Amino acid sequence: MGIRIEGNLFYIQSKEMSMIIENKEGDLLLRHIGGKIAKYHGSNAILEKDHAFSGNPTPDNRTFSYDTQRQVFGVHGFGDFRQPSLKIAHANNELTQFKLTSSEILHGAKEATRLPNPHTTEDAETLVLTLEDKVAALELKLYYTAYADCNTISTHTEVRNLSDKAVVINRALSTMLDVPAGNYDMVTLQGAYAREKTVRRQKVEQGIFTVASNRGASGHSHTPAMILCEHTATEDAGSALALQLLYSGNFQAFVQKNQLNEVRLGIGINDDNFAWQLSAGDSFETPVALMTFSNQGLGKLTQESQLFIQDHIMPKQFAHAERPILINNWEATYFDFKKEKLLDLADEASKLGIELFVLDDGWFGNRFDDNRALGDWVVNEEKIGGPLNDLIAEVHAKGLKFGLWFEPEMISVDSDLYRAHPDWAIQAEGRGHTYSRNQLVLNLANPDVVAYIKAAIDKILTENAIDYVKWDYNRNITNIGNGDTYLATQMQSHAYMLGLYDLVSYLTEKHSNILFESCSGGGGRNDLGMMRYFPQVWASDNTDAISRLLIQYGSSYLFPTISMGSHVSASPNHQMGRTTPIETRGNVAMMGNLGYELDLTSLPENDKEVIAAQVAHYKDIRPVIQFGKHYRLINPEQGSNEAAVEFVHEDKVVVTYVRTLSTIETIETTLKLKGLEEESLYRLQETGQVFSGAELMYAGLTVVLPQGDYLSKQYYFVKQ
Ligand code: DGJ
Repeated sequence: MGIRIEGNLFYIQSKEMSMIIENKEGDLLLRHIGGKIAKYHGSNAILEKDHAFSGNPTPDNRTFSYDTQRQVFGVHGFGDFRQPSLKIAHANNELTQFKLTSSEILHGAKEATRLPNPHTTEDAETLVLTLEDKVAALELKLYYTAYADCNTISTHTEVRNLSDKAVVINRALSTMLDVPAGNYDMVTLQGAYAREKTVRRQKVEQGIFTVASNRGASGHSHTPAMILCEHTATEDAGSALALQLLYSGNFQAFVQKNQLNEVRLGIGINDDNFAWQLSAGDSFETPVALMTFSNQGLGKLTQESQLFIQDHIMPKQFAHAERPILINNWEATYFDFKKEKLLDLADEASKLGIELFVLDDGWFGNRFDDNRALGDWVVNEEKIGGPLNDLIAEVHAKGLKFGLWFEPEMISVDSDLYRAHPDWAIQAEGRGHTYSRNQLVLNLANPDVVAYIKAAIDKILTENAIDYVKWDYNRNITNIGNGDTYLATQMQSHAYMLGLYDLVSYLTEKHSNILFESCSGGGGRNDLGMMRYFPQVWASDNTDAISRLLIQYGSSYLFPTISMGSHVSASPNHQMGRTTPIETRGNVAMMGNLGYELDLTSLPENDKEVIAAQVAHYKDIRPVIQFGKHYRLINPEQGSNEAAVEFVHEDKVVVTYVRTLSTIETIETTLKLKGLEEESLYRLQETGQVFSGAELMYAGLTVVLPQGDYLSKQYYFVKQ
């Protein structure tokens, strides 16, 4: 485990994963990424063929071309016609040919400055490869960190300008990998507002397939991640490699298959809306990327990714802390509330055993609807019936924690903040604004703006006994044009992200006792950059239990279950109009961090009894869901009528099965459980029936539901 340098080979080894890079006369060639190889002996003859029309950098060797070599960064402009890793404008061109000059092993990690980084453990090691392009006078450092406890390697890149003139970086990927030619599928998480993280698996064909965002946020439609797996890989077999980016802004992730069927993967900041002027002596660091590997199918890849994120990305104090069951007033009241209504809701919640009361949008300034007041972070005492701390004290007195909603990055034109600082909004001179929810985005590339937001939010968090914050972000960025020059404006999108990370790292570290949940109209910025500071995310504004099956399935494909807020809402559901039994709404929400978002004060008695039972039960199974291993049993993808997920933690097992529509043919479904001990006995808590692990895994658990739509069943087993 760790890093080894042997002759001209570099070994980067995490738990059961190896990356092997060869130094071939200064060029870095990727010999292997995948399952652990302790000693590499091979040389690959096919790579030493003269391929017509592939450029040779030397006249005496027609078999060496960057176009056919497997590399760890794409050399730009010397005969490799695939996607490059870097494009740096210097002198009169963008050519670079970096050659290795030195290597070094560091204990721990070399963190990316002003960007989110993984936590490392004592035994983490980092390989630093330093390369130089002497013509352009540029230095390139590649960092690879190996972890003993996970099948993940983290990596990022740094470019330093050694010349005496400024250069301009037009592309800087965080990582790039060439894998052997072959038959692959790629899996991405795609979606839309209220339909986030739909799993898409498709064959890798010749050409380039990219997922990206140019919205100033990672967005609802794509996640900064890409999985490459063998075409034959299944849930339980075959190899799969995930690339993920710790970045919340414009990104790109691509897979390219060229005319020789060679496959190249890359991930990093999007070239769109990006350029970075690098003055003499300065350096630029890319966001950190993760490479996670499984040779036991996509299920194991999920578990490895979830494990790494929980142990190495989430703020440590929350990664293994049980999350409170909450009531959020948004879908209960929207903007229409007064103190009495809030306290009635809190009262009911407390009687049902709920643990946290969250006051959503509408408590500040003149915020009576979503057209105004963003930026005016002053409590509207008239609306909440006095000082915020009085309300909090009353909520606390009912035995509930208190949470508050903010949308700190935004500004309404109808706000005191805009009247005082119209120039703080992102905008281009001489052009009107582009509105979205009637709001504008503050320019976080401006340190004065960041300082203002820090102070305004810090004041409220310091003066009030707040236990939880929901940090919302409800539009994407347009009209980028605050820079004095074209280049300054091209730097604005990334500078915004640096400002954002400065802001959120300051507030979350200073208020490290507060549980922060990120939100962007649901999952519009559900990425690892945010998760480094916000251990919880509101996965979607779509609270319909049946829609949530797909959203939660996709979210947990790579992200840990404990990151995902999941609420029971009203029926008929406000987004989909669907009527779903309270039991199924509860069972689906219990597949994440359970919460409620409906008017508890107007529910029929029977629903309240069911909710009280759900809350009590969830407290029992909460560690299984939030800390357990996650197994997908039935995929709810489009067209499927069923979903089933299993969680295993210590001696407890929870299985949830949902059938969407009633059908005449299906009378039963048998679920073959996973991850159990064959010889051990597991007691089904509901009936007292005992099964062996072997029975549950190989004969299976047969679910029989009566006729009816949107029915579900949850099973809870305890090992004897
Ligand atoms: C969008 C969020 O996703 C909702 O949950 C709610 O907080 C609203 N914003 C409030 O404006």
